[in-house]
Amino acid sequence: LAARAHASPFRDNSPATATTMDSRLADSPPATPAPPAEPRTKSRVVVLGSGWGAVAFIKNVDPRMFGEDGPYELVLVSPRNYMLYTPLLPSAVGGVVSENSIVESIRSLMHDKGRYYEARATGIDPASRTLTCVKQFCEVCAARMDNGADVVHTDVDHTFTVPYDVLLCSVGAVSATFGIPGVYEHCWFLKSMEDAQKLRKHIGKALEQAALPDVTPEQRKKMLSFVVVGGGPTGVELAAELHDLMTEDVAREMPHILDDVSITLVDGLDSLLNSFHAEIQTYAGEVFNRSGINLRLGCKVTAVHVGKIEVQRKDGSADVVPFGTCVWATGIAMHPLVAALQAQLPAEVQGSRRGLLVDPNLRVMGSQGTIFCLGDAAVTGATTKTALPPTAQVARQQGEYLAALFSHHRLGLQEQPEPATGDLVPLPAGAKPFQYLHLGSLAYLGNQKGVMDLPFKTPFLKTLRGYLGGQTWRTLETFMQISPRTRWMVFMDWVRAAMFGRNVSDI
Ligand code: FAD
Ligand code: NAI
Repeated sequence: LAARAHASPFRDNSPATATTMDSRLADSPPATPAPPAEPRTKSRVVVLGSGWGAVAFIKNVDPRMFGEDGPYELVLVSPRNYMLYTPLLPSAVGGVVSENSIVESIRSLMHDKGRYYEARATGIDPASRTLTCVKQFCEVCAARMDNGADVVHTDVDHTFTVPYDVLLCSVGAVSATFGIPGVYEHCWFLKSMEDAQKLRKHIGKALEQAALPDVTPEQRKKMLSFVVVGGGPTGVELAAELHDLMTEDVAREMPHILDDVSITLVDGLDSLLNSFHAEIQTYAGEVFNRSGINLRLGCKVTAVHVGKIEVQRKDGSADVVPFGTCVWATGIAMHPLVAALQAQLPAEVQGSRRGLLVDPNLRVMGSQGTIFCLGDAAVTGATTKTALPPTAQVARQQGEYLAALFSHHRLGLQEQPEPATGDLVPLPAGAKPFQYLHLGSLAYLGNQKGVMDLPFKTPFLKTLRGYLGGQTWRTLETFMQISPRTRWMVFMDWVRAAMFGRNVSDI
């Protein structure tokens, strides 16, 4: 380990050498001279991301391995200096829990285990084991870079590089749009905290605009029609939270507009929650029908225009669904950084359209053992049936597994690939493969009702439904929080909402 570390000419802040997604930035000369290289004596483990997989790793890894006498140094790179508890994102849109209650600072989670850089990785070069990162210091420049435009602060070098010995890639995924025209232009998403904040504000504004005196009844109906595309757990839970917001709080504070509110859920398949047990799929449909949520099942969205979506029914006929607000929740697609890395790896061992294929120890195939991948970015099986689902539960267990691997073994780095395996970072003998333990799935259906797919392999007691399911969901979502602080805050949010209702203002 040490031999390789001394032999490697590691350079922080050196000019970019990696293949980047934004070569214009990588090529731009640094305006200030690079500071001298930091001498390194340890193997550097770089973690990309601050979500479920990455945080499970840093929370569980033995700090002694990254301490003064440990063999590794830890660096975490992520544009978000917090971990987001995604399962309660729909509740944050509805206003039951506050946004601050479901995030935890990444620095408090890291403690003294290593360094954190607030930056976005834009390129991974597996050959030189170098990351190219873009600083996040200026929102204007970051937004312009995202759109491929010139940055405003041309006097600042926006990129820097980070060398690694071993990389843990846990950058998650992006919202899938399947190239359907108009989605980006006219729909809202629910993937990040920014998405939830923008959507919540927009809903508050829509309610207020609809209550203005010059609005005709037709305009009001249109403004208050909320359409959710995607009947997976994200779409279902969002529709449920919208339903609760309207029937509990808008009904109390703005009763004169309530009759014009409509919530419609559109899905190309014939049932909701298709990854859940069949009993739950049927039950979820019944609950939504009773709640007055319009279900447009068997309707695939083919295009989105201003204020309307085009759908195609199973029999081939077309229809149009008008909307005032449309939220797009049709699952996930590969992160562009992951796609760029995949393109650099041997095609014979990669090629999944969902993410990076990993071996049983979560090492990226074709990376000579130098890159581990976990969470939504990783594909654990060759076929859709054998691959693990992209859930927080999987990402968390994978992070815990890698934490144990790094805590119990010293991964030996080689200057030359080990002849037997061709690996630069061979696995130690005795390293067990990752094994997933399914603990069940939960979803909230509104009106205090919820469902749970139980993990027991018995012919009876396969699911939990109704009020009991709702209370189980609420209890588990509180106890599974990221930290004692967020656990307390989420608990207090439920109490606050039960006593005083939600805040429907658009702050
Ligand atoms: P994420 O948790 O998405 O984290 C990715 C991290 O990478 C983020 O910190 C991000 O900022 C960072 N990142 C992104 N790009 C870069 C870059 N270029 N460089 C560096 N860092 C980068 N799953 C469940 O099991 N149960 C649930 O109830 C549930 N509810 C959900 C509700 C919603 C609304 C959503 C959207 C998802 C839900 N999921 C749920 C799915 C779950 O959130 C994901 O499976 C999980 O977040 C995947 O973890 P991850 O670590 O792979 O990625
Ligand atoms: P999903 O992939 O589970 O569901 C997407 C839905 O969109 C599918 O039902 C699909 O038929 C539909 N769809 C796709 N294209 C469409 C089109 N053009 N028109 C109409 N419908 C279309 O996606 P979701 O809900 O975003 O979840 C992503 C991942 O996160 C999943 O693995 C899920 O299990 C997990 N998750 C789990 C939760 C839980 O356990 N409570 C909550 C939220 C997410």
